[in-house]
Amino acid sequence: MSSTTVSTTPAWTISDYLEVRDGHLNINAADALDLITKYDSPLFVFSEPRIRSNIQRLKSAADSVDHPIRFFYASKANSNMAVLKTVFDSGIDVEVNSGGELFKALRIGFRPDQIIFNGTSKSASELDEAVRAGIYAINVDSIYEIGLVEEAVKRVSAEDGHAPAKPARITLRLVPEIGTRSHLGLQTALLTSKFGISSSEVLEAFRRGLQNPDLIHVCGIHIHVGSQTPDVEPFAEAFRSMWEHLVAIHRETGHTLEHINLGGGIPVNYLRDRSQADQLPQHERDMLGADLEPSVVLAEALRVARESARAAGAEHLLEQTTILLEPGRSIIADAGLVLTSVLNMKQRPETLDVWLLTDAGYNIMLSMNNYKWYYHLISASRAGEPHEQEYKVAGPLCDSGDVYFDIEREGRLPDYRRLPANVKPGEILALLNSGAYSLAQMFHYNGRPLPAAVMIRKDGTAELIRRRDTYEDLVTNDIW
Ligand SMILES: Cc1ncc(COP(=O)(O)O)c(C=O)c1O
Repeated sequence: MSSTTVSTTPAWTISDYLEVRDGHLNINAADALDLITKYDSPLFVFSEPRIRSNIQRLKSAADSVDHPIRFFYASKANSNMAVLKTVFDSGIDVEVNSGGELFKALRIGFRPDQIIFNGTSKSASELDEAVRAGIYAINVDSIYEIGLVEEAVKRVSAEDGHAPAKPARITLRLVPEIGTRSHLGLQTALLTSKFGISSSEVLEAFRRGLQNPDLIHVCGIHIHVGSQTPDVEPFAEAFRSMWEHLVAIHRETGHTLEHINLGGGIPVNYLRDRSQADQLPQHERDMLGADLEPSVVLAEALRVARESARAAGAEHLLEQTTILLEPGRSIIADAGLVLTSVLNMKQRPETLDVWLLTDAGYNIMLSMNNYKWYYHLISASRAGEPHEQEYKVAGPLCDSGDVYFDIEREGRLPDYRRLPANVKPGEILALLNSGAYSLAQMFHYNGRPLPAAVMIRKDGTAELIRRRDTYEDLVTNDIW
């Protein structure tokens, strides 16, 4: 790093993390081009210091309110084992959405009492695994599922040969009809969504949950309003609703719940660099450019709950209630990026469009296709140069939808991406803020081996945290 100088500071830079040095993108002082030389393209790059500082921001938010708070990292956002290890070492807990994620969390060393299991459709064997492990809470998604958990407890008890086993701890997931300004596919507290138990069923659900205390202990109440929620109001409204249910349940049944789980959804600012933001529709801009501090979410949730507790004379109940959050995106999204190479180019004589064809398609960036999610694109090779020339950019897959713009012409992504002049094959580009819901969603379409991933440590060293697939990996599960 002898002659390294920070040449310019584009808006996407983050001091001591994402910088321009010697004209190249650097990630915690690791040169993006060196990473590609060593690990090939495309490549996921994660920053351990950034993951840790994102978690620290959450912890500081918890410290700023006078109330017990616990964070359960939503591992669906990215459950690479090295990412999970970093989260584990940072001292927070974990939320899982499948038997596979439960397996990974336990393998990392999360204690069972650090684990929450969510999901609409848990299989009998997944429930058995959760019950057997004795996790902190299974979030139950319907009244029917309460019976499924009871059955799992009976099965596991019989298996162990000492009935009854410890009662399974369950939390009821509610869906009280709270909208947000996020994508419809990312809103999860609407009655039209597939999730949860509605407000009119809550008391019945609790009565059902309290029927067999030998099998089940109802320990909390849960809501997740959705992902990338740009405003504080839905969180506050959700918390007020959960709190009022908690009080009503206590009055009705005498049962005291231990926690309110407010879910995930703290947004990430995907528009730190706003140079193409004016090409997005206003509502997308507001959603993607959200900059909502977790401390504000917690303060506002507690404010409404305290107000309501005072009015109801239920302050003692609030004191006893731990608040849980399940942040995913806000921990890992801006701690990761994708490096991709331009492999091909063309200029159409009819339209004069210059096309850059990369090796990163929706096989590794699914949400760029299904939600038309905006990831700011820069040249990693010439990160300090003006990004003013417009290109059509597309991935390597065999269908027309594999493009970095909105093929459906609804304008949800810019039609052209701005990069330095004269980009040619061989240039390395970077899709920023792409650490969440990308590596976790990639797939083998078109027989494309999945990319490698590296983690950059505090001292700038890169460690391989996922080896690149080989062709053998493509056929390993096929039987012929
Ligand atoms: C139940 C639940 N909790 C937490 C999360 C994480 O949300 P986010 O990554 O927006 O924080 C999700 C994701 O949608 C979820 O479904």
